[in-house]
Amino acid sequence: MHNGSSPKVDFLETCRTRVDAELSHRIESSSASERLQEAMRYSVLGGGKRIRPALSLAAANALGLSDDTALVPACAVELIHAYSLVHDDLPAMDNDELRRGRPTAHIAFDEATAILAGDALQALAFEWLADAPGIEASARLAMIKELARASGHHGMVGGQAIDLESVGKSLTLAQLENMHRHKTGALIEASVRIGALATPGVSEHSLNALTSYAKALGLAFQVQDDLLDIEGDTEIIGKPQGSDIARSKPTYPALLGLAGAREHLASLLSNALESLQDFGPEADPLRAMAGYVVERTH
Ligand code: IPE
Ligand code: IPE
Ligand code: MG
Ligand code: MG
Ligand code: MG
Repeated sequence: MHNGSSPKVDFLETCRTRVDAELSHRIESSSASERLQEAMRYSVLGGGKRIRPALSLAAANALGLSDDTALVPACAVELIHAYSLVHDDLPAMDNDELRRGRPTAHIAFDEATAILAGDALQALAFEWLADAPGIEASARLAMIKELARASGHHGMVGGQAIDLESVGKSLTLAQLENMHRHKTGALIEASVRIGALATPGVSEHSLNALTSYAKALGLAFQVQDDLLDIEGDTEIIGKPQGSDIARSKPTYPALLGLAGAREHLASLLSNALESLQDFGPEADPLRAMAGYVVERTH
């Protein structure tokens, strides 16, 4: 059992406070239905680690952009993530009843409301990107395209479809990696790239280096998620431990064993860090985030 606490990363803690405040403020504006509004707030606020928005802000930092400019795009990425979790937990998908230490949205509300809250959060993400203050129209368009590709059938939704099609099957390592790169990696890659795209005049070289960092980290993130499903503690991870095994999900530990999965994780971490070698201390938050992602206990 993995009972220790996650490493403390000051950058992440600071981002979490700012992101939580911005999300809470922005999601308040009234919607057509109070129940829908409540389900949206419930799904977005209340306990996420905010890793994706922190990655957007860390990427912007690495390029010398102030956190303020990238904050709204960072929050838009978190909306997509929150929506993906609401739908991932639905009975037709993973059928889980615990998320972030609380009942999942379809348990706290009802299935139809959870589906609609997810739909609404997805649309809202693009509205926030389209209106992101202080960013040129061409950069906002690039961010919208980035998030759309990473969320849809080319990215997260495509990966979720592979996940569901693969239940009970044994995948090859290449197939498993392909699934993880889509279902989790794509949005993490977009988080980093959106922070970079918010920066005026970002060079192709920097964007490529950040993308390669994010690709390694995105995969590492899901490998650690798979490990925590086995080694984690329900109390700490805030979602049911053993859910993947109960549902015969293809995972890294299932394919490589625990030791093999851990080794793979370590090599992904060094790939991520190597990608940042041309950056100086301005990329330290990205380095710290990489360490956090592989050492986290929830
Ligand atoms: C969990 O993501 C879902 C996966 C993509 C594996 P997080 O571990 O980032 O979840 P929260 O936002 O902190 O709850
Ligand atoms: C889900 O992966 C990734 C998403 C796109 C939401 P999991 O099904 O492993 O995520 P958890 O473990 O329920 O958070
Ligand atoms: Mg799932
Ligand atoms: Mg799940
Ligand atoms: Mg999981």
